[in-house]
Amino acid sequence: MAEQEPKELLEMSTDTERLLEENDLRPLWEVEKDFGNQFGGFEADIWKWEDIQASIDAIEQDVPIADLPPGFQRRVAVPVNTGYRNAISNTIYVGVQTVSPGETAPAHRHGANALRFTIDGSEDMKTVVAGEEFPMRDNDLITTPQWEWHDHVNDGDETAAWLDVLDLPLVLDSLNARNTFENHELDRQPVTKSQGYWESQYGRARPFEDTKEDGIPGPFEGNCAATPPYRFSWKDTLQTLRQRADNDDPDPHDGYSLSYVNPATGQPPLFPTMSFRAQLLQEETDPHFHNAVDAYFVIEGEGATHVGDDVLEWSERDIFVIPPDEIHHHDPDGEAILLGMTDRPVFEAFNFYAEAEP
Ligand SMILES: [Fe+2]
Ligand SMILES: [Fe+2]
Repeated sequence: MAEQEPKELLEMSTDTERLLEENDLRPLWEVEKDFGNQFGGFEADIWKWEDIQASIDAIEQDVPIADLPPGFQRRVAVPVNTGYRNAISNTIYVGVQTVSPGETAPAHRHGANALRFTIDGSEDMKTVVAGEEFPMRDNDLITTPQWEWHDHVNDGDETAAWLDVLDLPLVLDSLNARNTFENHELDRQPVTKSQGYWESQYGRARPFEDTKEDGIPGPFEGNCAATPPYRFSWKDTLQTLRQRADNDDPDPHDGYSLSYVNPATGQPPLFPTMSFRAQLLQEETDPHFHNAVDAYFVIEGEGATHVGDDVLEWSERDIFVIPPDEIHHHDPDGEAILLGMTDRPVFEAFNFYAEAEP
């Protein structure tokens, strides 16, 4: 049998085309062309700290938090990717938030998972989560559980700045999840726990009544599946990184690498939707590629990350992103430490994760 020309297959009479259009129907061979192309312009990109700093300083001058419209009072500059105008990627949102001395970012809660990674912090800059005031010291990582109240209070005399990392694009755009946000009736939630409470509940010795059944989820009752409130102190994280670098071999693609684990389970990912690592790089890594997105914040040092034909030259506090399936490797100039952020848990949950070397 002679093969039919594909073109003939696709030809429909004008009447048929009109009939489908009138009834909100499209043939698969048309629909198929649009699948996977809604987010077409995702490119490797970098946001230099000097530009971010100038921008957050300028909006801090112009916009007191109290003047922001009621609802979502957060003063944040958001790196946006060319292919996705709301965020750095189609799954992960990164923002740079500031709170001036004396200001409060009022209490609210939401269904999206969130964390803070402190850039300019102090003992007197506190994020209040689930009743506890967590001091935000430089490079501390503090979780905000799903649907748990949180407000940010600056009782110090310097402006504080930090990274907010949330799964907002996934939750709000892909899942189109509605009604997942609420403001507290008070700007500042009542402080009901002493400092260190949440950390103490997830150590090697845990409250008996929380462990006698299945050991999970622990004392956090806000939402039994949510990651608990927790502060990963940079002092401890850095010490562990140093021990690894002094004693172990680095991963060929990611250097000496620590996972931030869910404190309830002791396992990654930190959130069901996002995973985080502290990565210490001492030499050039081997190239690899994977279908999950990698985004980075430069904690210390400088170097370059090669992504396809692009070279992203980074230094301290820069933010950069590597699109899916792009071959990449890191080339630090001396020693550098990165915060790695990825949506890999989403891929793994659906058995889609793939990684390879070129
Ligand atoms: Fe929030
Ligand atoms: Fe990677």
